[in-house]
Amino acid sequence: MKNKQTSRYEQRARNRYKKQQESGAPVYILGIETSCDETSAAIIQDGTKILSNVIASQAEIHKRFGGVVPEVASRCHVESITLTIEEALQEADKTWDDISAIAVTYGPGLVGALLVGVAAAKAISFAKGIPLIGVHHIAGHIYANRLVEEMEFPLISLVVSGGHTELVYMKEHGHFEILGETRDDAAGEAYDKVARSLSLPYPGGPHIDRLAHEGEAQIKLPRSWLEPDSYDFSFSGLKSAVLNTLHNATQRGEEIKPADLAASFQESVVEVLIEKTIRAAKQYKAKQVLVAGGVAANKGLRTALEIRCEKEGIKLIVPPLILCTDNAAMIGAAGTILYEKGIFASLDLNGMPGLLLTE
Ligand code: KG4
Ligand code: ZN
Repeated sequence: MKNKQTSRYEQRARNRYKKQQESGAPVYILGIETSCDETSAAIIQDGTKILSNVIASQAEIHKRFGGVVPEVASRCHVESITLTIEEALQEADKTWDDISAIAVTYGPGLVGALLVGVAAAKAISFAKGIPLIGVHHIAGHIYANRLVEEMEFPLISLVVSGGHTELVYMKEHGHFEILGETRDDAAGEAYDKVARSLSLPYPGGPHIDRLAHEGEAQIKLPRSWLEPDSYDFSFSGLKSAVLNTLHNATQRGEEIKPADLAASFQESVVEVLIEKTIRAAKQYKAKQVLVAGGVAANKGLRTALEIRCEKEGIKLIVPPLILCTDNAAMIGAAGTILYEKGIFASLDLNGMPGLLLTE
C-alpha cells in the first residue's frame, strides 16, 4: 500500500510534468548510466541536444583483472555517482529546478552496478519531486543516433556491444522488434576474447581494430551465415577458429602475425554484420540504418558500412565514438521519448540484469 509520502511524491511529480507540458518550455532530461564500468550523467535538451555528458570510466581499474569485476564496478560507481551528476548539472549550467525528469538505465547489465544508478535516480526523484523514467540500456545505445540526426521510420538498427548483438526493426519511436540476435557470444565479447588470446589488454576491441589496420586478412576464417533467411548471429565458431589457428601455429613452430590474424578476424565479423544488416534494410524498406553499441566504434565496420550503404542508396547514421560506448547522453535521449509519451517509473523501480528490449 502507498504511504502518505509516496502519494505526495507522485502528486508533485505529476504536477511538474503537467506544468512543463502546458508551458511548452524545453524538456531537460538528466540521464544516468551505471550498467557496466562507466559512471555517467548527462543533461539532454528536447531529446536531441547534449548540454553535458560526463563519463567516469573504470576501464583502467578493471584492466589489471582482464575484464570487469562486478563488485569492483559497484564500488567505483558508488564513489563517483554523486560527483558525476553534480558535474553534469554544472557543465550544462542547470539546477534541479530546470530538470523535467530523471532517466536511468535499469537493465540489462550488472545488477550491483545498475542498482547504484537506480538508487541515486530514485533518491533525487523522491527528494525533489522530479518524475522518474526507467530506460533499457540498448534502447539508449540506439537513441545515441538521435543525438546525431533525426530518426526516420521504418529503420533498422544494428546493435553491437559487449553484451549484445541484435538487428532491431523500429517502425516508430519506442517500438523495437528484434529480427535476429546472437546465439552465443556478442560481437564485442568475441573481440575481447580474441584480443585476450593475442595478449592484448582489456577491453580488446579497440586494440584488434588498430592491429587489423596494420595487417592483411590473409588467414582463412569461417563466416557464420546460419540458415539462409536467418538474421541471427553466431561468433563462437569464429572465436574458436582463431584460437585453433594460434594453437596449431604454436605446435608447428610457425609464426603468425597478430596483425594478420586481427585483420582476418575483423573481416569475417564485419562481412557477416554488414550482409545481414543490408538484407534486413532491404526487406523492411528501411529509410535509415543505424549502428549502436561499443563495437560501432570499430573503424573497419564503419568504413565498410559507409561504402556499402552508399552503394545500395541506404542512409546510414553512425554516432561519434564517444556516443558509441556507454554514456548517459544516450540514456537521456531514449528517456525523452518515454517522457513525451508520459511513461514514468514508480519508486519501486529495480535493477533488472536480464531486462528485454521488447518488455
Ligand atoms: O556498448 P559498450 O560500451 O558496453 C556494453 O554495453 O557492452 O561496448 C563495449 C564493447 C567491448 O567489448 C569493446 O571491446 C567493444 O565494445 N569495442 C570495440 C571497439 N571499441 C569498443 N570493438 C571493436 N572495435 C572497436 N573499435
Ligand atoms: Zn553498452
